[in-house]
Amino acid sequence: VRIPVDLAERSYDVIVEEGARTRLAKLVAERAPRARLAAIVAPAALRSFDWFDLDPGVESVVVEVPDGESAKTLGVLEGLCEQLSGHRFSREDVLVGVGGGATTDLAGFAAAVYLRGVAVCHVPTTLLAQVDAAIGGKTAVDLAVGKNLVGAFHQPLGVLCDLEVLATLPERERRSGLGEVAKCWLLEGRTPEDARAASVAELTTVAVSLKAAIVAEDEREGGRRALLNYGHTLAHALEALQLAGASLDLTHGEAVAIGVAFAARLAARLGRVGRDEVALHDEVLDALGLASSMPPGVDLDGALAAMGRDKKARHDLAFVLDGPNGFELVPDVSTSEVRDALEDFQREGR
Ligand SMILES: NC(=O)c1ccc[n+]([C@@H]2O[C@H](COP(=O)([O-])OP(=O)(O)OC[C@H]3O[C@@H](n4cnc5c(N)ncnc54)[C@H](O)[C@@H]3O)[C@@H](O)[C@H]2O)c1
Repeated sequence: VRIPVDLAERSYDVIVEEGARTRLAKLVAERAPRARLAAIVAPAALRSFDWFDLDPGVESVVVEVPDGESAKTLGVLEGLCEQLSGHRFSREDVLVGVGGGATTDLAGFAAAVYLRGVAVCHVPTTLLAQVDAAIGGKTAVDLAVGKNLVGAFHQPLGVLCDLEVLATLPERERRSGLGEVAKCWLLEGRTPEDARAASVAELTTVAVSLKAAIVAEDEREGGRRALLNYGHTLAHALEALQLAGASLDLTHGEAVAIGVAFAARLAARLGRVGRDEVALHDEVLDALGLASSMPPGVDLDGALAAMGRDKKARHDLAFVLDGPNGFELVPDVSTSEVRDALEDFQREGR
């Protein structure tokens, strides 16, 4: 399936199919015809998989980076840029990000800043990166004080979502991607029955299509792109608590799935939707195999503080919520309502 991301002169396609990676040479030839070198940025850990047989159709080098989130530092970025320079990587050449979202975020950011901007293609190899991270042009590395604090917008030339490479993905990483898929499924108003019946290709295509459409409409998150943050207010708070040392062990997608289940309950408490909407959320999460209850022992004051941290308004919290007008960003949910809803969610589970 070819899903266009329509951004005028920066438009590109996301290809979702078995074996999509074999299209890399064609993509490079079409979109970077003057490239003489492709620098494949990937964690060493992935090089041993059979599917790591990428052929960009031009001379290539593999630049190894640390695995996962540990690659998203300014230090790693500097080392990567120095290696590119050592390989005489020029403005006309092309970077290829191969790995999970951490790797594509790093490769994308390097492409945004090296020589003030070079071309990048992504071959995302986790479900999360395929449905989310590699699409949309947001790139970043972390600082010690927080995630994604140094970054840039830089759209790729193309994204190849190869379903074959997901065969080696650990179950937990697959579930993490399904958390974002569940979010998209609900935003799209799709049914639990369809979710149960859908193949990975269909699940991926639905999520990619929604992200592509929203990015095309709102590249920089002024309006509709905020909807992609459905479930993320609580998810980010749980991740912040985890980072600060709370005894939690959640992947991003697991946190999103919990956030989505909570958002439905909060919307019901505020009278925006009926309880049937809560049941629908739970059925979609179940259909995708996501347990998504609030982990026991979460410090609710800590979670509320984390949710309010970036907000100017001291007493209100912002959530994407369903309602009579569909999903929208609700900027002024009272902290006490959120607290009550969290207490219920923690006590009652789902
Ligand atoms: N830019 C964006 O819009 C955006 C959106 C969402 C998330 N993100 C970022 O994405 C990152 C999370 O991405 P992630 O969940 O993919 O994590 P990740 O990149 O850390 O990858 C998870 C693990 O899976 C391994 N892996 C990758 N592909 C594999 C495969 N096919 N088989 C076996 N193992 C494989 C990786 O080596 C890694 O150990 C975060 O840094 C997050 O900030 C960015």
